Parts: sequence; C-alpha cells; structure tokens
Amino acid sequence: MKHPQYKIWKDLIEEHLYDFLPAIDSKSKTLQESMVYSLKAGGKRLRPILLLAALDFCNSDVKQGLPYACAIEYIHTYSLIHDDLPAMDDDDLRRGIPTNHKVFGEGMAILAGDGLLSAAFEAMTKDMLLYMDDAEALKRRVRASHTLIKGAGVRGMVAGQVCDVEIEGKTCSKEMLDYIHLNKTAALIMAPIKAGAFLAGADEKKLMALTTYGECIGLAFQIMDDLLDVVGNEEDLGKRVGKDAQLQKATYPAIYGVEASYQRLEELTNKALDVMKPYYDQAEFFNELALYLMKRVG
Ligand code: FPP
Ligand code: MG
Repeated sequence: MKHPQYKIWKDLIEEHLYDFLPAIDSKSKTLQESMVYSLKAGGKRLRPILLLAALDFCNSDVKQGLPYACAIEYIHTYSLIHDDLPAMDDDDLRRGIPTNHKVFGEGMAILAGDGLLSAAFEAMTKDMLLYMDDAEALKRRVRASHTLIKGAGVRGMVAGQVCDVEIEGKTCSKEMLDYIHLNKTAALIMAPIKAGAFLAGADEKKLMALTTYGECIGLAFQIMDDLLDVVGNEEDLGKRVGKDAQLQKATYPAIYGVEASYQRLEELTNKALDVMKPYYDQAEFFNELALYLMKRVG
C-alpha cells in the first residue's frame, strides 16, 4: 500500500513486536524459538496497523496502542500456526517459508500457538497494571482488551474456525458462509479497529463508523482470500493455492462463483468508503486501505 503512514506504522510494529514477549527461562528455549520463528516470518501486519490507524483517526497518540497492537499480532500468528496443523488445513508453507510444525514438530507448534495467545493476555494486562491509579485510562484499556479477546474467542475467530472445520466436504448455506467469514476473519479485523477507538476514548458516532468500516473490510478481506486461492499464485501469497477446493472448503467463489464474489467485494468496499464519508479529511488512510485490500495480490 502506497500511503506513507502504512510503512511508518509497519516499521513501528516491527521495531516493538518482541518487546512484549515474556522472558522465557532457558529450559523453554525451543518454545521461544518456535514463537519467534512465526512472528519473524513477516506478513502485512494489517491487524496491528489497523489499531494504530484507529488511534490516529481519533487524534490520539499511537504509541500507547503498541502493547495491544502487538498482542493482536501474537493472536493472529497463533491462529495461523494452528490453522496450518495437519488436524486443520494441513499446510506446509506460510508467509513464504515452511509452516511452524514442519520445522518444530506438531507438539511444539501447538505450544507455540498457546504461548503466543497467553503472551497477548500478558502484554495487555501488564500495560493495564501501569494505569491502576488512573481510572479513566484503565477503563479504556479494559474495553480495548475485552474487544480484542472477544474477537479472538468463542464468539469470534474460534467460533468461525469451528464451523469452517465442521462444514468441510458438506453443503454450506449462504447464511452459514457469512457466519464463517464474519467470525473466522472479520472479527479479528474489526477488533483492533474498535480497540483503537476504545483506547482513544472515541465518541459513539466514530465508534459506529469504525465498526461498520471494520466489518465491511473484514468480510471483503476473506472474500479476497478465497478468490486468491483460486486466481492467485504461490509466490505472491507465500502459501499454497488451490487448497480450498482440494479440502472442499466453504468459500465465496465455491458458492457464488468468481464473478459474483468480485461484485460482493466491490459492494463491501464501497460501503466501507461510504461510512467514512463524514470524516473525509481524516479518513484518507482508511479509504486507501479499503481500496488496496480489494486489489491486493498477497
Ligand atoms: C490471513 O491473514 C489469514 C486469514 C485470511 C484468516 C483465516 C482465519 C484463520 C486462519 C482462523 C484460524 C483460527 C484458529 C482458531 C486456528 P493475512 O493475509 O493478514 O496474513 P499475513 O499476516 O501473513 O499477511
Ligand atoms: Mg488455512
């Protein structure tokens, strides 16, 4: 994405990504290596950038969001490690390098995921401990972390993943497909946007606009992900293509066809742009991001 702020925030995330990992004793060194292996593999850092962008959009200091931004990247990375396991999607390539279990074994990959998820809780609660005497600041942090954890949990990403696993090879209704997309992917894209707004103490109107924007780009993101599995290539994506059809996954192109999927992508992107119209001057980054996501190749 060309917007200069994307690189600035991405660099900030890269610089601080390991700051919030708890120190691990020497006996668990392999666990540390396994967690860092997947964090270091790169990626777009989209979710933490969204959190910083929401803070900036609400005229708040982005640096205060770093523990929460890194926590969401820990959660996202754990979900990819577990998603790639043989018991789930059984993938051997992620972000252009061998998946975690291919390098460290299945047991260690499961533990690296568990470690990253708990590191996320630790990063956020450790930050909260610094604000025990500032009720307002503490409230904003509790709200932000609640939103992130809810998006990742059994009423969010995990719920979507359960249905994604259970529906494999079976007929999927359009309603169920939306449920899977909303929870498996959109929940973890909406959550950092809302968390940034909560941290900034945004007013209700801004919070609503950001929530709708997040839902639209979150759904659009998974539709694009489904499309890229059909029309994309391994080099740009850093992962194998054609896996969804092979595993008989419930995807947008499988149920609606490629053409209709592109149309839905456009509708959702337009809705995301519409909802930001009242904030035209301030919403430049979010607008550009919505357009970029709809054209991405990786
Ligand atoms: C790619 O993100 C990730 C998705 C499209 C989300 C898919 C959903 C899951 C893997 C859910 C797994 C859940 C559990 C509980 C195991 P991205 O393109 O932003 O990846 P990047 O960070 O490599 O750029
Ligand atoms: Mg997968």
